[in-house]
Amino acid sequence: MQVIESIDALRAQTKAWREQGKTIGFVPTMGNLHHGHLTLIDEARRHCDVVIASIFVNPMQFGENEDLATYPRTLPEDKQHLTDHGADALFLPSVKAMYPRGLAQQTIVEVPGLSDVVCGASRPGHFRGVATVVCKLFNMVAPDHAFFGKKDYQQLKVIKMMAMDLSMDIQIHGVPTQRADSGLALSSRNGYLSENEMQVAPTLYAVMCALKADIEAGERDYPALIASHTNTLRDAGFRPDYIEVLNADTLTAPAANDTSLVILIAAFLGTTRLIDNIEVSV
Ligand code: PAJ
Repeated sequence: MQVIESIDALRAQTKAWREQGKTIGFVPTMGNLHHGHLTLIDEARRHCDVVIASIFVNPMQFGENEDLATYPRTLPEDKQHLTDHGADALFLPSVKAMYPRGLAQQTIVEVPGLSDVVCGASRPGHFRGVATVVCKLFNMVAPDHAFFGKKDYQQLKVIKMMAMDLSMDIQIHGVPTQRADSGLALSSRNGYLSENEMQVAPTLYAVMCALKADIEAGERDYPALIASHTNTLRDAGFRPDYIEVLNADTLTAPAANDTSLVILIAAFLGTTRLIDNIEVSV
């Protein structure tokens, strides 16, 4: 696997691949790769002739009191995983290369509406940082296909909307959430959990599944359901941020005749913020 640090070298390589008629698949990440990330690589491998991953811990999407400084960085292991899964190239830009004029660059990409609810409400500016960096990475890599996890459901929706609104000729794929046997969604942030918290963490998934079962059984009083499941989370030791039941496409309050819903959930265990989601058909 090639490791490419400069934007010029990346463009030279992708140009050569394009001239050879190869389709390019792209998997953007922030590193500390686990099985969830690697299923995106596998999916890209299945769809495309060449696969490029990127690792860039994007300062623009972290809030002031968030974990930018402590975000886990495990480059040697990440390179090995990517090589084992058949990635052709790893793009590793520096902060200087990504933001030559600093984070206060004037042009930003904003996807209002979708970015303002659930995680966007709790993390102001987060999705602006995500959309801006992904737009920049798309302009650098110019992939035919790009792969994102459903684990970050709202992020996937924001990216799809950005690609459509800005007429990007890139097919965006959503890949199912990979979980541990306990049900806990794999996440780089799980590494922050203590042994005790690791025992409690799968309750997040269990509560989500219980809420899904209630909806599938015909219950529609969402505020009451959410209040009751929020209490369960609190009793288990979480500090719930939100539980929401929304229209799976628009992330707005579901109408009575909506059939595709999504449960989105975020909660703190100690200082670690965990998110998860599950789709519900009714
Ligand atoms: P990161 O958190 O590293 O995630 C990179 C990709 O892996 C995202 O598309 C995410 O949804 C996916 N992913 C993470 N955990 C997963 C799991 N358990 N199952 C399936 N997919 C999973 O998301 C980001 O980085 C950044 O916001 C980024 C898009 C790279 C922009 O900076």
